[in-house]
Amino acid sequence: MPEPLDAALTEVRALLLDPALTRAVAAGRRRGQRPSLVRAELRPVALKTGARLQISTSDGVRPYTRNVSPGAEADAAVDALLAEPFGNWHVETAEATLQLRVTKSGEAQVHRATADRPVAGPEGHDRVKDYLLDPGDPIFATIGGNAAKRRQVDAFLRALAATLPDDLTGRLRVVDLGCGNAYLTFAAYRYLTGRGLDVELVGVDVREDQRQRNSELAARLGWADRVSFVAGTIADAVVEPAPDLVLALHACDTATDEALARAVRWDARWILAAPCCHHDLAAQLRSRPTPPPYELLTRQGILRERFADVLTDALRAGLLRVHGYRAEVVEFVDSRHTPRNLLIRARRTGSGTDTGPQRAEYQQLVDQWQVTPRLSILLDDRPAPVGGA
Ligand SMILES: C[S@@+](CC[C@H](N)C(=O)[O-])C[C@H]1O[C@@H](n2cnc3c(N)ncnc32)[C@H](O)[C@@H]1O
Repeated sequence: MPEPLDAALTEVRALLLDPALTRAVAAGRRRGQRPSLVRAELRPVALKTGARLQISTSDGVRPYTRNVSPGAEADAAVDALLAEPFGNWHVETAEATLQLRVTKSGEAQVHRATADRPVAGPEGHDRVKDYLLDPGDPIFATIGGNAAKRRQVDAFLRALAATLPDDLTGRLRVVDLGCGNAYLTFAAYRYLTGRGLDVELVGVDVREDQRQRNSELAARLGWADRVSFVAGTIADAVVEPAPDLVLALHACDTATDEALARAVRWDARWILAAPCCHHDLAAQLRSRPTPPPYELLTRQGILRERFADVLTDALRAGLLRVHGYRAEVVEFVDSRHTPRNLLIRARRTGSGTDTGPQRAEYQQLVDQWQVTPRLSILLDDRPAPVGGA
């Protein structure tokens, strides 16, 4: 049931100033109004000089963080934020969670939950703190997506968070290859700018209709100057300057190889690619005899397909190592959210190409199975002649 907005905001105020506050986020806007800030986040911090309320705001261009003292200073800062026409407040304390959404008619739709009775969000019973990006974040009203996709993308962002160094600052150029409807693209932009980075993000997809749709969404979000879209193939789309970070979520079949090859050619510092279906090596395994003693691995069709998946991603990671990356394959999300839940995560080491042991283990595997991974063709990968040039 909608409630009077003033009374609901008074309740929010009390929670924001409560010493039990753990985190609060304000974002979005009310119908026909525009706050001077895109987002505000509040959390308690313990400084040497005592407890403070940390307030991080963004006007859509620059993030700004300040710490205010409890008492008059915090009261005034909180009152100033409550006076902004934000469309949503999400407030968590040690005991309770409150979500407030301002309706079109200017009333408050409030969900309250206590710590022992979690708030049921739009996806059911997932708790807000299970997410890296607040599910109440207003970008989701614009970019859409269902609960499973939100889970997947949030998990992908967690893997990204674990990959980038904590002290990363300044400009970050990012590309999302095979971006589709750009769900990851927009969420990544939101997450990375929330970390205070100066982000330029390009989404690439072969579909022109996706480029148009995504560009319109970027404009609606007010991000068109930082988030742009190109219609073209992963292999050839023009992305300049070269990105530092390459993302690819479920680029179909060998499009993942195109993404990895492009990232290596760009000399990207970080690569996160969650592969989709794998047909390339499965077809190669079908068309030639299995080397002994591995016949049992491939005799049954389903085992052969699964083994081909494993071989494909093992060789992808192996080739990235040959090309100067530290690469690992991890599960980034539980398989109940998507069966395509592996992630190839790579960080450039600067050790150069064709490092001996990495080359040897990769080469032994392709020689034994007599396969030619698509990525090796795209990278024009050939072992260096024995004994040097
Ligand atoms: C399964 S969708 C995934 C979309 C998005 N990354 C996501 O996870 O929601 C794969 C996308 O990759 C695009 N795609 C496939 N092969 C491509 C290629 N070679 N170059 C550019 N885009 C490609 C398709 O058009 C499609 O939008």
